[in-house]
Amino acid sequence: MAFLDKHKVIEKNATILMVLSLLVVTVGGAVEIAPLFWLQNTIEDVDGMRPYTPLELTGRDIYIREGCYVCHSQMIRPLRDEVERYGHYSLAAESMYDHPAQWGSKRTGPDLARVGARYSDEWHVDHLTDPQSVVPVSIMPKYGFLSNKMIEPTYITDLLSTHRFVGVPYTDEMIENAAADFKAQADPDSDYDGLQARYPKSQVRNFDGKPGISEMDAVIAYLQMLGTLVDFSTFTPDANR
Ligand code: HEC
Repeated sequence: MAFLDKHKVIEKNATILMVLSLLVVTVGGAVEIAPLFWLQNTIEDVDGMRPYTPLELTGRDIYIREGCYVCHSQMIRPLRDEVERYGHYSLAAESMYDHPAQWGSKRTGPDLARVGARYSDEWHVDHLTDPQSVVPVSIMPKYGFLSNKMIEPTYITDLLSTHRFVGVPYTDEMIENAAADFKAQADPDSDYDGLQARYPKSQVRNFDGKPGISEMDAVIAYLQMLGTLVDFSTFTPDANR
């Protein structure tokens, strides 16, 4: 066929092949990427989203340090089976304060994007300490050592400032109160009104049920907030904004 003969020219000349490949990739890339800057569901603000509290952010760091993301994703795709199992598909806005994003790339365990408030704190303590005690067939490793590692908010101001530097809207007030908010969230007897005013829907509990603030408290505070900020009973994608 005639056009196949002409294709031979491209295949035999590396320079032409490279130039044309680049052109194809550029056009293809532009067509895939450019609409994201205009599509409403990738850029819309969603009510309820707020930056992580100091304790949640600490838990998130431990989640990253322990490599939980290797086995767990945090992104529910808009496919029927996923939505039926995990809940409303993830919105872009729900990852907007994640640096780096925790979408993950493999699900050895279930997606965790909406695991918050699904189980009790005690369940999480038992499960993280010895997953097989609650899910006998689980292949998840044990993380009981998190309970023994007590933590202080020594660097929490720096941590929040760093996140502000990369675009998370932490206010001066949030940064000034970071250490106090860190402690207040794990202590139901503390004065946590300021914390909850700064971070709506923040949950205040002694997450691991033991005295002091451990890495276990921080990880559970983080897990229990995942997917709880946006109220999907009132959320409607706004296509006309
Ligand atoms: C080697 C892979 C692996 C790693 C690493 C891992 N998990 Fe899991 N996880 C699983 C598997 C498999 C399950 C499902 C069985 C179960 O519930 O234990 C699971 C279940 C869970 C669940 C319950 C989810 C649900 O909806 O029932 C939570 C919460 C969880 N993991 C948190 C974590 C956290 C936090 C870490 C890091 C400290 C972590 N996992 C690390 C494999 C892993």
